[in-house]
Amino acid sequence: MTDENEKNTMAHLHSHGSHRHKPTHLNHLLNATARTKRLKHAAQIHSHIITTAFISLPFLFNNLLTLYAKCRRPSLSLLLFSTAHQVTKTVVSWTSLISLLSHSATPFQALSSFNQMRTAGVYPNHFTFSAVLRACAGTSLLLHGQQMHCLISKLGYEGYVFVGSALVDMYAKCHDMGTAEKVFVGLPERNVVSWNSIIVGCLLNGLHVKALFLFREVIREVLFRPNQVSFSSVLSASANIGALEFGKQVHGILVKQGLLTLSYVKNSLMDMYFKCGLFDEGALLFNSIGIEGRDVIAWNVMSMGCVYNENFEEACNYLWIMKRTGLSPDEASYSTALHASAHLAALDQGTLIHNQIIKSGFSKNTCIASSLITMYAKCGSLDDSCRVFEEIENLNVVCWTALIAACQQHGNGNHVIELFEKMLADGLKPNYITFVCVLSACGHTGRIEEGHAYFNSMEKVHGIIPGHEHYACMVDLLGRSGQLDEARKFIAQMPIKPNASVWGALLGACANYGNLEMGIEVAGRLFELEPNNPGNYVLLSNMYAQKGKLKEANQVRRLMGVNRVRKEPGCSWIDVKNKTFVFTVHDKSHARTDEIYEMLKIVKELVKNKGYVPQKRFAINNTEEFKEESLWYHSEKIALAFGLLALPAGAPVRIKKNLRTCGDCHTVMKLVSEILKREIIVRDVNRFHHFRNGLCSCRDYW
Ligand SMILES: *[C@@H]1O[C@H](CO)[C@@H](O)[C@H](O)[C@H]1NC(C)=O
Ligand SMILES: *[C@@H]1O[C@H](CO)[C@@H](O)[C@H](O)[C@H]1NC(C)=O
Ligand SMILES: *[C@@H]1O[C@H](CO)[C@@H](O)[C@H](O)[C@H]1NC(C)=O
Repeated sequence: MTDENEKNTMAHLHSHGSHRHKPTHLNHLLNATARTKRLKHAAQIHSHIITTAFISLPFLFNNLLTLYAKCRRPSLSLLLFSTAHQVTKTVVSWTSLISLLSHSATPFQALSSFNQMRTAGVYPNHFTFSAVLRACAGTSLLLHGQQMHCLISKLGYEGYVFVGSALVDMYAKCHDMGTAEKVFVGLPERNVVSWNSIIVGCLLNGLHVKALFLFREVIREVLFRPNQVSFSSVLSASANIGALEFGKQVHGILVKQGLLTLSYVKNSLMDMYFKCGLFDEGALLFNSIGIEGRDVIAWNVMSMGCVYNENFEEACNYLWIMKRTGLSPDEASYSTALHASAHLAALDQGTLIHNQIIKSGFSKNTCIASSLITMYAKCGSLDDSCRVFEEIENLNVVCWTALIAACQQHGNGNHVIELFEKMLADGLKPNYITFVCVLSACGHTGRIEEGHAYFNSMEKVHGIIPGHEHYACMVDLLGRSGQLDEARKFIAQMPIKPNASVWGALLGACANYGNLEMGIEVAGRLFELEPNNPGNYVLLSNMYAQKGKLKEANQVRRLMGVNRVRKEPGCSWIDVKNKTFVFTVHDKSHARTDEIYEMLKIVKELVKNKGYVPQKRFAINNTEEFKEESLWYHSEKIALAFGLLALPAGAPVRIKKNLRTCGDCHTVMKLVSEILKREIIVRDVNRFHHFRNGLCSCRDYW
């Protein structure tokens, strides 16, 4: 019905005596108003229904109930329901009420309505259970959902596809994926909703690869037509694990099914490209939308894309460009822009954004306020951080932690402890990051006992399991005060394997206190863990030198040369049988070096037969006769040779590289993928290169 028609109908309502209206006619009016969502009309019809005493007709009552909710006045629905006669409250209207409550972020109220309904002797049906399961999921407490599941089984509603899907969704949201999968597998019938429940559930619980597998199954078996929820979930999963190739296939399907016009889907696709490092692909999509079609999310995704691409100025610019098109930036827009200006340490830009935030009424938003605190601190203005903090009305742990971290960055350890104690006194629960700041501050201010007490309280009082950062802070705390043996013992007792940060803190202390003996041991461990960190070599070498052992000092320096430790030495690594093998340029350290270089020769023959011409401009060796040779000792080629030797036949070769891969290696990888029918995946510092059948996913543009 058009607006014009509706106006006529409403006029009709007024011109006739109310007694003339039949219930069906009133229902017709209710349906019309549900489309226009005009509260005024809803109220008019309501009063007619009351005066005609038709209110006791369940279908009119129920439609009116949902009408108020559709007009965004759930409180009026509640009022109507609570004042109605018991007889009118059928299972349909109870279900409407429960559904309404579970949708309006009041899950506990929905559960209590469900109990009232059962007390009133009304039996739930499958619609009721779908609605109440949403409420159970909303509470995030597994217990509610489990109880409901028992009831559903008892009453035999498990087989209904909507109830089953709601069960899967509930278990996933309560983070019990084991049961979610069990329920999913046991469903006698599955539709798009059930598949989306399990796929979204995987995404929610970080099971990204699983989400991709499920989606692939759907496509391969043509189980149903995925909708925009399915597509955008699977694109998020691809983005989160950098599965670019998969994301591209999804792109292809979207084009084929003509779904790329949906902005929801397009934004997810853009996000996927950005997160996988294909900035240009994402920007191309963004530009293809056209100014009119871009919603706030599209702009936010674009701006975030610039952040991933480390183009922070451009990220800030997008905020202003979006504003000029007449859109109102939201929380995410401001947070991204603030994050970018913090990165640039651009105080002017940050202040401009702050002014805009005040103008648009977002200054009370705690998430934005926290970003402001961090921005000002990173731009060097701690005073401004404090000022923002003081103006926040509802301080939460994120705001507190932002200020505590700000003080920590500015070296104000005493203030960190003061703030932390105030925060605890205010009854707030600290988080993982809060403790990193606090323990670090204890170290810098020599608070040894307090540091221990705080550390011990983490798990016991606050239920936070200490991580590497916390252990490193404790080692630093002990080390700074000269308690090297205690620090060493502390590491020995760690329940997790100490990483380089933890050992690094101890090496620093050894250097400070001139403990060469322990320094040698610790440095040895660090050379294994991070052979390319020049700092460790320098520290140990200096320690030798200070003790007058110049020969050893030089040896360590030379070791650094042998390991080719420079500021950013190129290296590639590959996992074989759960072990990571690292290769540097010209690497000859591996036990199978001879075989590796044999394999390199074979590969060289093969690709030359395919027409490979060495691209000498990528050679580091500047002597012409050695140029071609030296190209063959790039770390990714050595890793490839080792992969071909050590991996099972046909298994994909996955190589990671800390720098950008060079054009010559790129060509060789493409040819090898074709000649040996082998999938090769190289993740360099920017993106994934997926080589298959002589082609690369980057289309030779990176
Ligand atoms: C040690 O582990 C922490 C937490 O996982 C991480 O943030 C840090 O970067 C690691 N340190 C090194 C040197 O890898
Ligand atoms: C690798 O590790 C996984 C789990 O950590 C284990 O199941 C598997 O057997 C290991 N493979 C090898 C070859 O050691
Ligand atoms: C070039 O390679 C040759 C042979 O491997 C080597 O002797 C020479 O030192 C290298 N030059 C540079 C600058 O790396």
